[in-house]
Amino acid sequence: MGQAEQEQPLSSDTARGLGAEPCTLVIFGGSGDLARRKLVPALYNLLLDNSLPSNYAVLGIGRKPLGDQDFRDGLREGVVKYSRQALDERKWAEFERRLFYQAGAIDDPKSYKGIKSRLDKIEADLKLPGHRIFYLAIPPSSFAPACEGLQRSGLAHPPDSSRPFCRVIMEKPIGRDLQSGRDINAIVGKVFDESQIFRIDHYLGKETVQNIMVLRFANSLFEPIWNSKSIDHVQITVSEAEGVGTRAAYYEETGALRDMVQNHLLQLLCLVAMEPPYSLDPDVVRDARIDLLR
Ligand SMILES: NC(=O)c1ccc[n+]([C@@H]2O[C@H](COP(=O)([O-])OP(=O)(O)OC[C@H]3O[C@@H](n4cnc5c(N)ncnc54)[C@H](OP(=O)(O)O)[C@@H]3O)[C@@H](O)[C@H]2O)c1
Repeated sequence: MGQAEQEQPLSSDTARGLGAEPCTLVIFGGSGDLARRKLVPALYNLLLDNSLPSNYAVLGIGRKPLGDQDFRDGLREGVVKYSRQALDERKWAEFERRLFYQAGAIDDPKSYKGIKSRLDKIEADLKLPGHRIFYLAIPPSSFAPACEGLQRSGLAHPPDSSRPFCRVIMEKPIGRDLQSGRDINAIVGKVFDESQIFRIDHYLGKETVQNIMVLRFANSLFEPIWNSKSIDHVQITVSEAEGVGTRAAYYEETGALRDMVQNHLLQLLCLVAMEPPYSLDPDVVRDARIDLLR
């Protein structure tokens, strides 16, 4: 994840959603698989866990010409199928009325005018303060055009404590290779300050992955023997229940190696093999992982 250099670091309450500020989440790729299968079910679970802010809205963007209700119905199916916690009709009704959809192509400058006026309307209707998070659930080749479109339309602005916050979340993969990764980071970095950029590898949020840290550093049986003198070798197994499904075109293009290994599995390797970080501060843990890779 990106560093919060200029914005205040999240308090532990805010990090857990308690007291999180009312905001609008704009999902570029709102009509896609990631939004339906992971992002919206995750938000719905946060709602059930009382971890969403008191006031919020979600605006999905995609090229498909969907109405708000089509969008909500598609997401509802996703929640029924993929949510950790079962659908509760009363809670869903509460959640659903905050979900909106706006059709628009990332490469078309007119789309941003539409997004801007839609956001203004939703935020005025729901009395939201205008804090916005742009989630890029789109192919990495669209990251730079999306950020440039946001900048040109005035939807992105540098950190400024007198204005509502504005952040961007990039879902992995960030590029296809080293050069394209650098190119994307360079363009996104021209639009947003590093403190506004969050890079997500959702694999790291899995409970088993999170437990590695506890197992390594808080378990007095394992902690003293977690070293090359006591461990013969390490095997990392990725046991996925979900198949390629409807993502054959994506897999044809990307391949399993790029999809899984240089991101999720390398991160796991880092958690297993890094030197103990001196604190669990996100930046300190990131530095420990980078030291290992170096
Ligand atoms: N699915 C996962 O589990 C998963 C996991 C980790 C990372 N990712 C990454 O997340 C990204 C999205 O994946 P996905 O599986 O959701 O793909 P997807 O099902 O193909 O969806 C792509 C989304 O992007 C939108 N889109 C693409 N080009 C666009 C454009 N020019 N203008 C406007 N919208 C555009 C599509 O809108 P329309 O269809 O309406 O045109 C759709 O909503 C990819 O980079 C993928 O590698 C996905």
